[in-house]
Amino acid sequence: MTYSILLIGQHGQVSTYLQRALSKQEGISKQEGMDLIVAGRDQIDLSKPDTVKAALRSFDVDLIINPAAYTAVDLAESEAEAAFAINSESVAEIAAFCAENSVSLIHYSTDYVFAGDAQTPYAETDPIGPTGVYGASKLAGEQAIINSQARAVILRTAWVYSNHGKNFYKTMLALSETRDELTVVADQIGAPTYAASIAEATRQIVSQLRQQGGIKPEQSGVYHFTCQGQTSWCDFAKAIFVENQITKMAVSPIATKDYPTPAQRPAYSVLDNSKLEKTFGVSLPHWGTALAQCAAETASSKDKP
Ligand SMILES: NC(=O)c1ccc[n+]([C@@H]2O[C@H](COP(=O)([O-])OP(=O)(O)OC[C@H]3O[C@@H](n4cnc5c(N)ncnc54)[C@H](OP(=O)(O)O)[C@@H]3O)[C@@H](O)[C@H]2O)c1
Repeated sequence: MTYSILLIGQHGQVSTYLQRALSKQEGISKQEGMDLIVAGRDQIDLSKPDTVKAALRSFDVDLIINPAAYTAVDLAESEAEAAFAINSESVAEIAAFCAENSVSLIHYSTDYVFAGDAQTPYAETDPIGPTGVYGASKLAGEQAIINSQARAVILRTAWVYSNHGKNFYKTMLALSETRDELTVVADQIGAPTYAASIAEATRQIVSQLRQQGGIKPEQSGVYHFTCQGQTSWCDFAKAIFVENQITKMAVSPIATKDYPTPAQRPAYSVLDNSKLEKTFGVSLPHWGTALAQCAAETASSKDKP
């Protein structure tokens, strides 16, 4: 029997790489009996929570994957209503739909649910404490899913980058075209996570769900889901230039206090991914390995006419 998947969100970073990983051409094959439907915001608009369930009823699927979110961390401070509508109220509707219709749900969340004042990697059971609107809205989404009793896997990721969309990696490459020196924050520590690594690890989970007929009750819950290792934004910037063979950039460290932003960033947001490995036997690569893969993709896209 065909296993049908609905992917919400079309042009986002994670969504783009998920479409590749789950597509019949490049990822899960026809033989595996999977069918992927991608719904853009013209079909499911998460800014209108009261329309979400009706929109979902037009699809007959076994699994919903939701990487769609309000992700503008700084803007969220002045657009709390929009952030909560998309990241919490609509997520509650998706979860209720999944619970009512025995549909499994894979949803993505964030390291911003934590205050960022830890010194060792956060476990899923550690106390949460978002410091801004974005983190609070994503946390409310997590809690709505858990309260819905839907069979759901919530994957908390962090520092997402890729060759697609807006992200730190692309910003660094763009700056290297006009500048030869940069200052970058060095006192925030996390794990840069390539969207393609997220997509590949998700594909492995989806394969298991298909074989076992959905998420088992004991598998429902929150999982930390980042690349391995840790670094600062400043050292990540230096590594981006090294991997892309950009030698002229001089990168100097600055403190967070010298780069003020409307929303506070967690100073430390390394996540312990061992629950993911223990439950699904899945892990993401080390951030340095993934960065090399991303840079190879950058180079190969430049080679294309
Ligand atoms: N980016 C990060 O550094 C980061 C860090 C931690 C966690 N996360 C989480 O990881 C997940 C994926 O993030 P990402 O970086 O791929 O995000 P992204 O590139 O900003 O993409 C956001 C996606 O959400 C969709 N979307 C936004 N508003 C919508 C609406 N009203 N209705 C329907 N869809 C809407 C967008 O739709 P369109 O396709 O129409 O543009 C897009 O597909 C999110 O849950 C995010 O919270 C991200």
